[in-house]
Amino acid sequence: MGKQRVLSGVQPTGNLHLGNYLGAIRNWVEGQSQYENYFCVVDLHAITAPHNPATLAADTYTIAALYLACGIDLNHSSIFIQSHISAHSELTWLFNCITPINWLEDMIQFKEKAVRQGENVNTGLLDYPVLMAADILLYQADRVPVGEDQKQHLELTRDIANRFNHLFCTPEQPVLKMPEPLIRKEAARVMSLTDGTRKMSKSDPSELSRINLLDPPDAITKKIKRCKTDLVRGLTFDDPDRPECRNLLTLYMVLSGKTKEEVAAECQDMGWGQFKPLLTETMIATLQPIQEKYKEVMDDRSYLESVLREGRQKAEAIANDTLLKVKAAMGYSMPL
Ligand code: TYM
Repeated sequence: MGKQRVLSGVQPTGNLHLGNYLGAIRNWVEGQSQYENYFCVVDLHAITAPHNPATLAADTYTIAALYLACGIDLNHSSIFIQSHISAHSELTWLFNCITPINWLEDMIQFKEKAVRQGENVNTGLLDYPVLMAADILLYQADRVPVGEDQKQHLELTRDIANRFNHLFCTPEQPVLKMPEPLIRKEAARVMSLTDGTRKMSKSDPSELSRINLLDPPDAITKKIKRCKTDLVRGLTFDDPDRPECRNLLTLYMVLSGKTKEEVAAECQDMGWGQFKPLLTETMIATLQPIQEKYKEVMDDRSYLESVLREGRQKAEAIANDTLLKVKAAMGYSMPL
């Protein structure tokens, strides 16, 4: 039997932050040798919020380069750009016509973003999870490694797959494979540095709320120095009234590779003045090799383009095959 297939993606909106890295990309890298992997830059999703046409292409390349810089290995994985494969848009339309609107109106992220975007709420924002379902189901993915905030979108993807198979296939021969979310226990939800009850997010207006993967050491030092803490002495994971403490200890644990028990013992008597430099140092040490590799990749544009061209070819063959099967099941005539 072949390897199970993995698909995941990140939007090219702004810089990637530690939440994207620890919640998603690091897990792609760690698991990649077990699977056949497809990682896309989801640039069609990026226009559901107002975007800048002058920077969209460059931002897309930046994310692809960061995938490589974080350790995506082309022996196991393909990297491609969502908009380069038109099957994503086409399958979205077909799924639109079997997806009840109220499923989409119930999505937590839609509700949150709709409030934030005010007058800019477009149909694409509502339809966003259907496009995500198309991304996943086109590749017949077994596993989808994501952060916890995408769990509901994965459930919707499964609902759409179920509905499609039920409407248009026999139980013995479903066209669409049921994907499973892969959500890590640790750092599945990295919280903001300025408010430990909110998730770290690209859309937070405060730069101080997040660490970007390309932040230089002095920016990291400043952000950690100014991040929100509390007045209690001794650091612990387990006090529900200390969300910032839990978040910062978790970041230290994951970045240092230590166990929870080791970190709990090491930090139990520390004050923030002692802990913050330790966290800063660990963060800088983790990000430095990623930043160096990123520069290397960005300096060789033709290499990056060849990676994306090859990724597209591999991905497109699978996507087109699924799309044909979907259309046949729905009763479409085949192109002549
Ligand atoms: P996006 O671009 O918002 O985020 C990319 C990945 O980062 C994870 N993530 C986090 N994890 C932990 N803590 C955080 N604070 C945090 N913030 C973000 C997200 O869970 C995600 O895994 N809809 C997706 C992109 C997408 C996709 C797909 C993902 C489109 N099609 C198909 C998987 C499969 C999104 O908005 O990601």
